[in-house]
Amino acid sequence: MDVDSVRKDFPTVRKGLGIYLDSACQSLRPDSVIAAVDEYYGEYPACGGRSVHSMATQVSIAVDETRERLASFFGTDDPSCYVFTKNCTEGLNTAAFGLGLRRGDVVVTTDAEHNSNHVPWLHLSERMGVGRRLARSAPDGRFDMEAFKECMGHDVRVVSVQHCNNVTGCTVPVREVAEVAHDFGATVVVDGAQAAPHVPVDLERLEVDVYCMSIHKMLGPTGMGVMYGRREVLESMGPLMLGGGTVGLATADGYNLAPVPERFEAGLHNYAGIVGTRAALDYLSRIGMDEIERWDRTLMRRILSNLEDVRNLRPVGPTDPDARGGVFSFNIDGLNAHDIAMMADSMAGIMIRSGMHCAHPFYTSQGVDGSARASVYLYNSLEEIDRFTDTVRHIAEVFGD
Ligand code: ALA
Repeated sequence: MDVDSVRKDFPTVRKGLGIYLDSACQSLRPDSVIAAVDEYYGEYPACGGRSVHSMATQVSIAVDETRERLASFFGTDDPSCYVFTKNCTEGLNTAAFGLGLRRGDVVVTTDAEHNSNHVPWLHLSERMGVGRRLARSAPDGRFDMEAFKECMGHDVRVVSVQHCNNVTGCTVPVREVAEVAHDFGATVVVDGAQAAPHVPVDLERLEVDVYCMSIHKMLGPTGMGVMYGRREVLESMGPLMLGGGTVGLATADGYNLAPVPERFEAGLHNYAGIVGTRAALDYLSRIGMDEIERWDRTLMRRILSNLEDVRNLRPVGPTDPDARGGVFSFNIDGLNAHDIAMMADSMAGIMIRSGMHCAHPFYTSQGVDGSARASVYLYNSLEEIDRFTDTVRHIAEVFGD
């Protein structure tokens, strides 16, 4: 991958607006995505799937084309299996509340889930008596297959796991998990928020039933997500919201649901987000997800090797860079994570995230109140990484214990 040429496509990089290491939260956007959004507002700012005039038809075609791009990007052949949501969280909630779980059914997750794949299930457990089992992770955060298998039983209706963790970067072997889960007749839901932007994801091969992602972590517009579901699973699910667009026909006293995927897309949608999604997928495809994964690894190796000898630095998660996806979370003895993030920004214009990263159960189980986190993507250069690690070293030596 030619990172210098990639960097030229991102306006905030070109303008030198700091070193952005917060892509696990939200990525930067290339010119082509911004232009697609701009073109929507400037040329055809109508709704899709309703009116039949020319502008609206242009939107409807763009919506269909975006679903087609999603299907080919994720290795499946049915575009109607892709539901537009506002983020990964909405997809996971749609699955949690739409799968028809009842008292006595059991959901298996892990002890390292993001709140978006934890709180909805917790809510079902508290309100409806749905049982939960949490597969324990290894001490460094890695997925433990044996612990997961111990949670399985014939009462398990759903297994819902993250594909890649947003704090430790650890990857869950989703295909193997799906095989085990399917042997017990369970439906497999995956939080793909941190994996879909960084590694090739072939949904056919992974054999999962539902896979959710945030497009704003994949170079796309903010407030855009996608929920993929196998057709028969989506057809058995109810929507999270009802209203315009979700029904075939409503009378004064009844309604029948629209087909998949429209039944899940209540009200007018984020059409600017949808056309921006098409542009983002085109950009990622042009670079190649294999290349992006390789570059993430290169950057992560550089971070870990540059910081190896900083004595008061405590990485959160595995210290093997190849086991960490694109995130590097850490603490420095004697410093609060928010202070580290603010110092990095004010001293060197480096933007990282700090806090609990919505991974509350993970931190509370370890008795830690959060961490700083740098997360990389295809537009980060090795020079930026060196600047980051020099700054962290300086903060640790001067201000840490
Ligand atoms: N879950 C996102 C993150 O890890 C917002 O930053």
